[in-house]
Amino acid sequence: MGEVIGSVDIDHLVLAAATAAQGATSRTVLEAVEAEFLGKRSELAGAHRSLGSMDEQARKSAGAVLNAARVQIQQAIEECRVGVEAAERSALLEADRLDLTEVVSSSIASPVRRGHQHVISQTQAELEDVFIGMGFTVADGPEVETDWFNFEALNIPPAHPARGMWDTFYLELGEPETVVLRTHTSPVQIHLMEDAVANDTLPIHAVMPGRCFRRDTPDARHLHTFHQIEGLVIDRGMTFVDLAGVIQTFTTAYFGADISSRLRPAFFPFTEPSAEYEITCTICHGEGCRTCSQTGWIELGGCGMVDPAVLHAVGIDPEEYSGFAFGFGIDRCAQMRHQIADMRALVENDLRFVEQF
Ligand code: PHE
Repeated sequence: MGEVIGSVDIDHLVLAAATAAQGATSRTVLEAVEAEFLGKRSELAGAHRSLGSMDEQARKSAGAVLNAARVQIQQAIEECRVGVEAAERSALLEADRLDLTEVVSSSIASPVRRGHQHVISQTQAELEDVFIGMGFTVADGPEVETDWFNFEALNIPPAHPARGMWDTFYLELGEPETVVLRTHTSPVQIHLMEDAVANDTLPIHAVMPGRCFRRDTPDARHLHTFHQIEGLVIDRGMTFVDLAGVIQTFTTAYFGADISSRLRPAFFPFTEPSAEYEITCTICHGEGCRTCSQTGWIELGGCGMVDPAVLHAVGIDPEEYSGFAFGFGIDRCAQMRHQIADMRALVENDLRFVEQF
């Protein structure tokens, strides 16, 4: 047993303080230990107070013992403070750590959901790929056109009955120019030919995908806002055989070898001769269903040899150049490729539909 001052066993007190300090797990606990052993109400302070009743000699030696004990206790607490602070800091860092390897499971409802391209955009990209593989370039043009590009340059004069083939949205911008939402991608043909003439860059081998608009009532095969991919080849010595070959190659590449296609004579003011391009209905495999109006065939678009009147309109000599053009519905291609019975599903934005593709 060590020295006892004012009924306090000093060695015991120092040991108790050191043990308590070592057991402290946080700064708050350590501060409580400090108050308990060094504060005004501590046993050490009580022992100090008892010095007053001692004689001079005893007070001196007891005072020295108490001061030494205070220093020892302070040192023990300081040593522990360093460790406690380091532990607290690393616990904080651990809690704040950004775990970049964490995998967010898709089964957990997460506030950020990754989307993907709509099936129409996917289809457009796939169609472009097929034509790029055949040596075509990809171009685009405006969705709002003047009457010249949408109709006149395509050999459809004002008030011509052929305009009845396209239920047009006219924009009321007033004279002198009539402005329309383009009813097909064929006006991009005119842009490309005019540019090629101006820059002397003929021949042209291009496809032109894009959005078109018609004042149509939506049904299983029609939308008022839809997409086409136009094709145009202007070169020397082009014949209908080149056109038929491109269409056959496209059909096999995109729909597969088991889908048949056919060209049926048709009329378009800007091609001569003209044809309609149809494939076996993939919904009923040619049996006849609601989607194909019981015919077993689905029309994907029109095509033909570029009419000399069109070449004239853009300043190309029909004696030197000839060419062919085609225009297919991208939405129809998506519909047939994925066997979508009703095309309106493409634009209803029902996630249960959209997420299937
Ligand atoms: N533009 C025509 C349509 O939308 C399709 C077509 C394009 C026909 C090119 C012939 C040549 O109906």
